[in-house]
Amino acid sequence: MKKNFVFIFAIGLMTLISACGDTQAPSEDTTGSVIPSGYVGKTNSLASSSDVLTEGKTVYEKTCSACHGLTGLGDGPASISLIPPPAILADFHKTADDELLFWRISEGKDGTSMVGWKTVLTEDQIWKVISYVRTFD
Ligand code: HEC
Repeated sequence: MKKNFVFIFAIGLMTLISACGDTQAPSEDTTGSVIPSGYVGKTNSLASSSDVLTEGKTVYEKTCSACHGLTGLGDGPASISLIPPPAILADFHKTADDELLFWRISEGKDGTSMVGWKTVLTEDQIWKVISYVRTFD
C-alpha cells in the first residue's frame, strides 16, 4: 500500500515537472526528432538567389555528395558501404524544418556516419547548403 502511494506520488511529481517546463524546452520536429533548444526556431534568412544557390552547390558537391549523391538521392559513391545508408535528402527536406536541417548538419547524427559540420563549414555555408538542398525534387 505504501509502495503504491510512493509510486503514484512519483508519477504526479513527474507530470508536474514536465507541465512546468520553461519556454525554451526542446521542440519536437515533424519527424519525431527532438531539436535541442539552442537550435529551436532557427530559420534560413538567405534569399534563394542564384549566388546563394551557386555557393550552396559548390559546398554540397565538395562536402555532401560523396554520400548523399549529386541530386540528393542517397546514392553517392561512398554510400554503398554505409549502414544506415545516407538520408535521401530529396525526400527528407520536404518534411524537415530549417531548424532540423541546420541542427543535423551542424551536429551530425549519433550512430551514423553523418558527422557534424560546424567545425568545417561556417553558419553561412550551412544555410547556403540548405538553400541548395531545398531545390532537390
Ligand atoms: C560520410 C557520408 C556522409 C556525408 C559526407 C554527409 N552525410 Fe548526411 N547523412 C549520412 C548518413 C549515413 C545519415 C543518416 C541516415 C539515417 O539516419 O538513416 C545522414 C543524414 C543526414 C540528414 C538527415 C538527418 C536526420 O535527421 O535523419 C541530413 C539533413 C544530412 N545528412 C545532410 C548532409 C549534408 C548537408 C552534408 C554535407 C554538408 C552531409 N549530410 C554529409 C551520411 C553522410
